[in-house]
Order: sequence, then C-alpha cells, then structure tokens
Amino acid sequence: LDNGLARTPPMGFNDWNAFGCDVSEQLIEQTADYLVSSGLKDAGYTYVNIDDCWQTHSRDAQGRLVPDPAKFPDGIKGTADYVHSKGLKLGIYEDAGTETCAHYPGSLGHETTDAQSFADWGVDYLKYDNCNNNSDGTRADYVKRYTAMRDALAATGRPIVYSLCEWGVQNPWEWAGDVGNSWRTTGDISDSWSSMLNIAKANMPLASAAGPGHWNDPDMLEVGNGGMTDTEYRSHFSLWSMMDSPLLIGTDLRKATPQTLAILGNKDVIALDQDPLGKQATVVSSDGGRYVMTKQLANGDRAVALFNAGDQAQRIATTATAAGLPHRGGYTVRDLWSHTTYDSAGTLAATVPAHGTVLLRVSAGHTSRRNPPLLDTGLAAGA
Ligand code: DGJ
Repeated sequence: LDNGLARTPPMGFNDWNAFGCDVSEQLIEQTADYLVSSGLKDAGYTYVNIDDCWQTHSRDAQGRLVPDPAKFPDGIKGTADYVHSKGLKLGIYEDAGTETCAHYPGSLGHETTDAQSFADWGVDYLKYDNCNNNSDGTRADYVKRYTAMRDALAATGRPIVYSLCEWGVQNPWEWAGDVGNSWRTTGDISDSWSSMLNIAKANMPLASAAGPGHWNDPDMLEVGNGGMTDTEYRSHFSLWSMMDSPLLIGTDLRKATPQTLAILGNKDVIALDQDPLGKQATVVSSDGGRYVMTKQLANGDRAVALFNAGDQAQRIATTATAAGLPHRGGYTVRDLWSHTTYDSAGTLAATVPAHGTVLLRVSAGHTSRRNPPLLDTGLAAGA
C-alpha cells in the first residue's frame, strides 16, 4: 500500500503469541519500558501492538468501540500517550467481521467510526483480522472488506500502518499490494518446529509480491516461547529476516533469557530484514532438506542462508555466483551468527546442524583488498 509507511518491514511487539487474551495497559507499558531499557528499541523495534480482547463487549451510545476499563484504565489514548512518550508507536487490533475472533465487536459496517477512534486515540498501526466475517467466500468480498478499512484509515489523515490478517485466504499476495502494508500468507503460527517450518516453506515462493510498503507476513515471532531450541529459533529469525517479514516479537520480554535477547537483538540479521532495497530472499536450491536462499542487498552484497530442515547435520554448499554475486577473484564472507569474517574464492559452504541455519553476508572482493591493513591504525578510517 502506497501510504508512505512500512518502507521496510514493521518491527515491534505483539502480545498474542505469549499472552492470548490476557492483554492490559500494564503489559503494554512495561513492554515499552523494556524495549527501551534492553536496547531493542535502538535495534529497530518500534511498534508495541495490542491484539484481540482489549474492548468491552458492546459499543457506546454513539456507536464507538470502548476499551475495557479494567484492562486499560487510561484507555487506548492514555496507553498511546505513554508509548509515544518512550519514542515508540502503538498498534491495535480489529476485525473485518461482525465480531473479533474472541467475540468482541468487529468493524464490519463501522469502518469510518472505528478508524476515526483509532486516529483520535493516537494509534499508529492496525492489525485487521478475519473472524465472523459473513463472507460469501469470494475474493471480491475479501477485497471489499479490507479495502473499506484501508479507505477509512486514509480518510482520517493519520499515518496508520495497515496489516491485513486474512490468514492467506484468497491468495492475498495476488491482490493486496495496494490494499495493505502487509498481508498474512498463512494460518496462525504456533510455537513448534513443524509449524514454523511449514509456514516458512509456504512463504518462500512469494518473493515477487513483496517490496517497500507491501510485505508478505508469515505471522509473528515465537522466538523465546520455549517450544523450539535456540538453534531452531535462530533459524526462525534468520528465515523471517531473509523473507523481509514483519519482525513482531511474540514473547514475554520481561522474562526473556540472554539467548532470546541475543537472537532478537542481532543487528546484522535485522539489517537483512530492514535492507532498504526490500527484496525478499529467493530459493536457489532445496534438495534433501538443504535449503540455499539468497537475498539481494542495497549495497551490492548478498545474504545467503544455508538452512538445514533435516533432522541430521549435513553439509550445504553453493557458490557466490549461484547466489547472484558478480564473478570476482574472491569474496568476503561474514557469518552473521558466529560473527566471524573470512575470505572465499567462491565456495559458500558449511556443515549445518539439524534444524540450523548458517547465515552469511557476502561481498565481492577480499577483505584484504577492501580493507587494507592500514585501517587497523585508524588512520584510513575516514578515507
Ligand atoms: C487470529 C489471528 O490470526 C491471530 O494472530 C490473533 O490475532 C487472533 N486471531 C486473535 O483472536
């Protein structure tokens, strides 16, 4: 959607994966505090997003949505003010049906009123779900319901990222490019290896649909929730970043382990997701669970993922030219998880543990040529 927003995939937090309906102003504000104190805000995580269950069960006398006063004593406006005071942005959730999935009032037929409430409250991001939608199941109906809220948001004049949550129904990558800033390509993720893997595989072939302002959304992150190993969570985070996915943390940050924070806070990996070119990775090869993916980057580098979907360690290999780099005498390879740098004549290979990912950033030219030893003295740093 060309509304000037989400020029790189949105980054932030959403409460649903870790808390379900147990959302509150306190949780949102504590999460905002934590994003700042942990350094995750500086790493790019900006949106603090409220999911389902923030409302009361009926609209007010003017037909407006009402925040649950027990969960949000200062309302959404008060919560947004707090989040904004931390230099962050606030997201909210609604539904393109008569009721949300958890049976709170939906926005179908109330799009203008509800969009205006969001704008009045200072909301910066809307996730728009698909339950209880009275749909006839046609693509035309999906386009109509999701376009109605797009237009209502635009009419408020407030910049609001518009995230479609239609669960991949009606192949949104074929029609949602000018409807939303992102669209869900699959059903809900859960905190398991098989769920994450199946979603990743479904999202991989959709690269041509993504770009600045309009992203494939393979759902929110499960990193830190305990159902996968840290190796698997590193694969999850590597794949989502390679695929230019929204990076929405879905764990209780207040209890996050150092390992979880190291994954979510890896700036080299985040830089792939946030690369200004906005090119989702494509699959170079994928035999025997050995995936090679390549992602074009704005400075001419390529990111290369060697992803082992198999249950045994195996060697995965490709070449720099197969990954799309120009023919050169050599390449500089940076391993974004081990934080090592080495030269290669062209082979890019590693023995990758079961369910693991070796994630590389590859530049044409050797380190020695690109960064002469002089650099070590600091004298050439500005040259
Ligand atoms: C379905 C969505 O896909 C989930 O991400 C979450 O928003 C729930 N609905 C909330 O009811």
